[in-house]
Amino acid sequence: ALSLLAPQDLAGRRIAVSAGGTREPIDPVRYLGNRSSGRQGAAIARAAADRGAEVDLVAANVSAEVLAVARHPRIRIRPVGTAAQLSDAMKAIAATADVVVMAAAVADYRPAEAAEQKLTKEDGPLERIELLENEDVLAALAASRRAGGAPDGQVLVGFAAETATDPEARRERARRKRERKGVDLLAVNLADAENGFERTDNAIEIIGPDGSVVAAASGTKGEVATALWDAVAVLRIGP
Ligand code: CTP
Ligand code: CA
Repeated sequence: ALSLLAPQDLAGRRIAVSAGGTREPIDPVRYLGNRSSGRQGAAIARAAADRGAEVDLVAANVSAEVLAVARHPRIRIRPVGTAAQLSDAMKAIAATADVVVMAAAVADYRPAEAAEQKLTKEDGPLERIELLENEDVLAALAASRRAGGAPDGQVLVGFAAETATDPEARRERARRKRERKGVDLLAVNLADAENGFERTDNAIEIIGPDGSVVAAASGTKGEVATALWDAVAVLRIGP
């Protein structure tokens, strides 16, 4: 019923959202992962669809329970596992998307090689895992936009989970991150016991193109998603 009351300000827009956390295989049964549940990304996809958008949701290891939030006739869900798979999916979709929101926690590193057989102590103790750096997907999407590989007026939104408790220090890191990545908006969430990962509630601040805090929201992940789309709508979307 709530969705019927949503403004249709995103009608006709094509939106790509990534959610969840990538898993980088170590062997057939083990991986390097993170604590992102995908709840915030799923809520962002849902809020966009409720406002009329056509949404592609690239879901990295998101549980069926969380994905239920994103069950909607205008949301297409594309499940992925690794950062490389997420990159392929996002690049394909972003080429025609008016807005891209990277809410997924993408692994910064992956094991240099995944063992074909399960590692066993019978082969001696495992002393280290060699890591390689993963591509920065969001920075790559920004580079491709600069190179003309995106629709005119495309809006790029990143997310950053920061654990620094001092708000000003957090904002400063977020400002640098937004510039480094070349995106329009960077939503910072405070990853602590009450907010962020694996939680129902979240609290974010959104850093805008001039480095200022253009929006702040706390509450359910649905309420945070609404605030995010309000902040995006303030920017001009599309040609
Ligand atoms: N991101 C990405 N590809 C990566 C890492 C991050 O696309 N390999 C995206 C995330 O989806 C998020 C944004 O970049 O939208 C910020 O992620 P974050 O991990 O905070 O940024 P990093 O550049 O990896 O910085 P840090 O060293 O603090 O982890
Ligand atoms: Ca990172």
